[in-house]
Amino acid sequence: MGEALTLPATISIMYSKDTTKELQKLTNELIKKKSSASIKDKDAWLLKDVLRFHEYRYYILNDPLISDFEYDQLYKELEKIENDNPALITADSPTQRVAKGLTKDFPTVQHLVPMLSLNNSYNADDLIDFDRKARELTSLDKIEYCVEPKFDGGSISLIYENDLLSRGATRGDGVEGDQVTINIKQIRSLPLSAKFSDFGVQQVEIRGEVLINKSNFMKYNEGLMEQGIPPLANPRNAAAGTLRLKDPAEVAKRNLEAFVYHISYYSLLKGKKIPVELTTHSGSLKLLWDLGFRSPEKEKKIFKGIDAVIKYCEQFEITRDNLPYEIDGMVIKVNDIALQEKMGMTSHHPRWAIAFKFKARQATSKLLNVEFQVGRTGAVTPVAKLEPVAVGGVTVSSISIHNEDYIKEKDLRIGDAVLIERAGDVIPQIVKSLADVRTGHEKKIHFPKICPVCNSKLFKEEEEAVWRCINIECPAQVVERIIHFVSKDAMDIRGFGDANVRKFYELGFLKDIPGIYTLDFNSISSMEGFGQKSIDNLQTAISISKKQPLHRLIYALGIRFIGETTAKTLAQAVNHLLDFKKYSLEELQNLEDVGPKVAGSIHHFFSNKGNIKMLEELEKLGLQLKNEKKELTKGGNLTGQTFLFTGTLPTLKRSEAEAMAEENGGQILSGVSAKLNYLVVGEDAGSKLEKAKKINTVKIISEDEFLQLVGKK
Ligand code: IVH
Repeated sequence: MGEALTLPATISIMYSKDTTKELQKLTNELIKKKSSASIKDKDAWLLKDVLRFHEYRYYILNDPLISDFEYDQLYKELEKIENDNPALITADSPTQRVAKGLTKDFPTVQHLVPMLSLNNSYNADDLIDFDRKARELTSLDKIEYCVEPKFDGGSISLIYENDLLSRGATRGDGVEGDQVTINIKQIRSLPLSAKFSDFGVQQVEIRGEVLINKSNFMKYNEGLMEQGIPPLANPRNAAAGTLRLKDPAEVAKRNLEAFVYHISYYSLLKGKKIPVELTTHSGSLKLLWDLGFRSPEKEKKIFKGIDAVIKYCEQFEITRDNLPYEIDGMVIKVNDIALQEKMGMTSHHPRWAIAFKFKARQATSKLLNVEFQVGRTGAVTPVAKLEPVAVGGVTVSSISIHNEDYIKEKDLRIGDAVLIERAGDVIPQIVKSLADVRTGHEKKIHFPKICPVCNSKLFKEEEEAVWRCINIECPAQVVERIIHFVSKDAMDIRGFGDANVRKFYELGFLKDIPGIYTLDFNSISSMEGFGQKSIDNLQTAISISKKQPLHRLIYALGIRFIGETTAKTLAQAVNHLLDFKKYSLEELQNLEDVGPKVAGSIHHFFSNKGNIKMLEELEKLGLQLKNEKKELTKGGNLTGQTFLFTGTLPTLKRSEAEAMAEENGGQILSGVSAKLNYLVVGEDAGSKLEKAKKINTVKIISEDEFLQLVGKK
C-alpha cells in the first residue's frame, strides 16, 4: 500500500491506444488510493499527467472517461499535495490555471508577427478569381488548398517557449494587443505545456479563436436575464468580452473554448531542421492536434483546384447549424508554406488565404412600434415590432428589447433603422440603432407607469432593471402562470398549448390553475375545432398529469428563481409540499444551492394564503403533494445504480423511463462516464452509445431489459 505508481517511459501527450489504456488503469488505481488516503507526494507528477490526460479527453475529444466528480477528487488531491509541498508545483500543473483576485491591467504587448486580417469572398465567382490570381502569382496550373471553418469568436495569439505557454494576447490593432495570459489559462482546451521540442521547435507563436459554444452562451444569457440584466447579442461578443474581464474566476465560469489554426512564427532549437510537418498548413494543423490542441484537424480538407473547394464550402454552409459553436464562413489557404511565402501579403491580408463568408445573419429593419408584455412574474417586457425581415433564413418581426435601461443604453427610437442579428439558433437581438440615418421624425419610447393589462401601478425594486405589475390577479400573469404550469418541462399536459389556455381563459372556461382539473368539457366540445378525439386526448393528458412527481409540480408553480434543479432539491427535502409553510428563511438556506434570493422567494410563496389555498385545492383534486419517492427509494431495488437513456425508446417516453428508474431508487446521470451503470438505448442512439461502448463497466441494455430490472416485465 502507498507505493508510488510508475508510468511507462513512452508516455507522450499524443495518447496512443496503449497509453490511453495505461492512463485509464493508473486513474483507477489513483482513485482507489484516494479512497484509502494513500496518495503520496511521489504521486504528484503522476496525478498531473493523469489530470492532463482527462482534460484532453474532456475538452479536446469531448469524450470523457471519468466523471466530473472523480476528476475533482483527483484534482483536489493534487492541490493538497502541492499545498503541503510547494516545491512540487510546476508552471504547467493543472492547478496553475486557477487565479484568485482581480487583475489590475492588461499590459500592451507586441505580436511577434502582425496579426493580419483575411480578404473576404461571398460566392463561387470570388473564389474562382482568388484561384486565378494565386495561379498567376505561383505560375502553377493547379494549387493545393486546405479548407477549414472560419470560427466566429475573438482572435488570440499564443506564445509557447521551451514547451510552456508563456503569453496569451488579444488581437488588438493587429500589431499590439492586450496581454491576457491569466484569462487564457482559464481555457481548458488550451494546454499549459506542449512538446514542441519533440519537433525541434524552441519558440512558437500560434493564432486561434476563442469561442463560447451556443449552449453555454444561452445559459449565460438566461442567467443575465434572470437578474434583469440585458443579454449579450451574440457568442462572439460574449467570448471577446470575457477575455478582457478582470476577474479570472469569472472567466473560468464562462467555459470558453479555443481553436488554433495558424502558426505565424517559430524558431528552432540548436542544430534542428525544419520539421516536415511545418512545411504545409495541413501538417501544422495535424502537429497542433497531436500536441494536444484543438485545431480543425477533423474539419479541414485538402483539395487540388478550386472547384472542389467551392463544393466543400457550399456543403459546409448547409450544415453550419449542426455545430455546437458559431462559424461565419470557411477559410481557404494555400497548403504549401513555401508557396505562401512566395505569394506574400498586403498590409491588410495574406495573398495566400481568403475567407468564404456564409450568408449574413445580420439584416437591417425598421422599428415600427413597441408593445409591452406582462410575464408570469409580472415583469413588463418591451417587445420591438419590426418591419418583417429575413435573417439567416428566418423571418423576424418581433424582438424582445428586455427593459427600460436597455432601450436607453441602445438609444432606440420608434422609426429607427435597426441592425438585427440572429446567431445560429440563438434568439434574435437588436445590435444597435443606425443613428446616422435618422430623419428627425423618430419618436422616443416611453415606458408605461401602469400595467398595460390590468392598469395597476408598476413597481421597480432598487437595483433591479425590471418594472413589475404586482397584482397577482392580473389576467396576463394568470394566463402566463397557467401556460407555464401545463408546459412540457412542468406538468406536461399535451394538447393544451398556449393558444388553448388563452382561448379558455378569454371564454371564462378557465380562471386559475386548479381550474385545469375541473374543466367543463361539454362547453369545450361546442367550440369550433374541438372534435371528440382532441377532447379525449386532453382529458387523458390532464388526468395523467395528476400523477406527476412532486418536483414537477413545484417547478410548474412558477415560483420566481425556482428552476428544475432547485425544484428537485426542494421536492427531496420534505415529506409533503405544505411542510414548507413551517420553514424559516434560515432553514431554506440550509438546502443545497439555495441562497438568500431563492430562499426569500420560496418563503414569500408559502406565506401567501391564496397560494396555500390553491395547493390544498390541487391536493383535493388528486395531485401529488406528497414526496412519494422518499418512501419508495428506501426499498427500491435500483438503489445505488445510475442510469442514462438515449435514443427513442420503443414504448416509454424519456421522462417516464427516468421517473421509473428514480422511483425504484436509481439515479439519472447527465452524461456517459465510468460512474454510469446502465445506458438504456433506443433507436437512433448516437454518441452516448459510442462512448459507453468504450467503458467496460457500463452495461448497455434495451428498454425491455430495463423494464425487467424495474419489475415491470
Ligand atoms: S487565418 C494570416 N483561419 O478571422 C492568417 N483566421 O476575418 C490569418 N479566423 O483575423 C488568419 N477562423 O481572427 C484564419 N480558420 C481560420 C480562422 C480565422 C477565424 C479569424 C481570424 C482573422 C479573422 C478574419
